[in-house]
Amino acid sequence: MSLPHSIHVVSHPLVQHKLTKMRDKLTSSANFRRLLREMGLLLGYDATRDLPLVHTHIETPIESMDAPLLDGKKLVIVPILRAGLGLAEGLMDLMPLARMGHVGLYRDPRTLQAVEYYFRTPGDISDRDVIVCDPMLATAHSAIAAVDRLKETGAKRLKFICVLASEQGARAFAEVHPDVPVFTAAVDAKLNDHGYIVPGLGDAGDRLFGTR
Ligand code: PRP
Ligand code: URA
Repeated sequence: MSLPHSIHVVSHPLVQHKLTKMRDKLTSSANFRRLLREMGLLLGYDATRDLPLVHTHIETPIESMDAPLLDGKKLVIVPILRAGLGLAEGLMDLMPLARMGHVGLYRDPRTLQAVEYYFRTPGDISDRDVIVCDPMLATAHSAIAAVDRLKETGAKRLKFICVLASEQGARAFAEVHPDVPVFTAAVDAKLNDHGYIVPGLGDAGDRLFGTR
């Protein structure tokens, strides 16, 4: 399957192992939550490879040296509610000083269009790198709507992290937002009639929060 250049599949064995555990319907809600958090950490590690560094002078216990530190303002992590919260926990483990925004969206089960019910981001988002996260990129309506809104409020440098994308969703997102790289553990071939990814992992929000 050849995908648009902006779609990055993270093939690291730990990521692939954890994804299989998440797909398994026998995995409990508690384990699903832990795995999603770990995915946030591992996918976030890959997605932040290009962060700029600046050298600063420090003293080690042995001698002084110039050593690298992250440059620029702290990032903003923006989970798409609800399920994005689980991924954001891992990203916050990785970058504890990051700012957080929240985009509340749900999919209308009939039209599969994204309906917004909450939006709150830091005022200076235009000066910061932004990582949007949601475990599932199915039709991509939610991801596209979230990134549209963030761009409207001034966000310029965005990345999107998900656990699982459909091929259709990955292509749709890349077409509308080719400037936003997507980091995912896998791209599944199909969507079913209800817009669920097949084979997928089911409803990420329900599995995370034990609802349904
Ligand atoms: C799920 C998922 C995404 C969206 C993906 O959320 O977490 O936000 O569906 O589907 P799409 O790519 O077709 O838009 P859902 O709408 O079920 O809301 P929830 O997280 O509150 O359960
Ligand atoms: N949302 C989910 O949680 N799972 C899917 O497969 C599609 C959308």
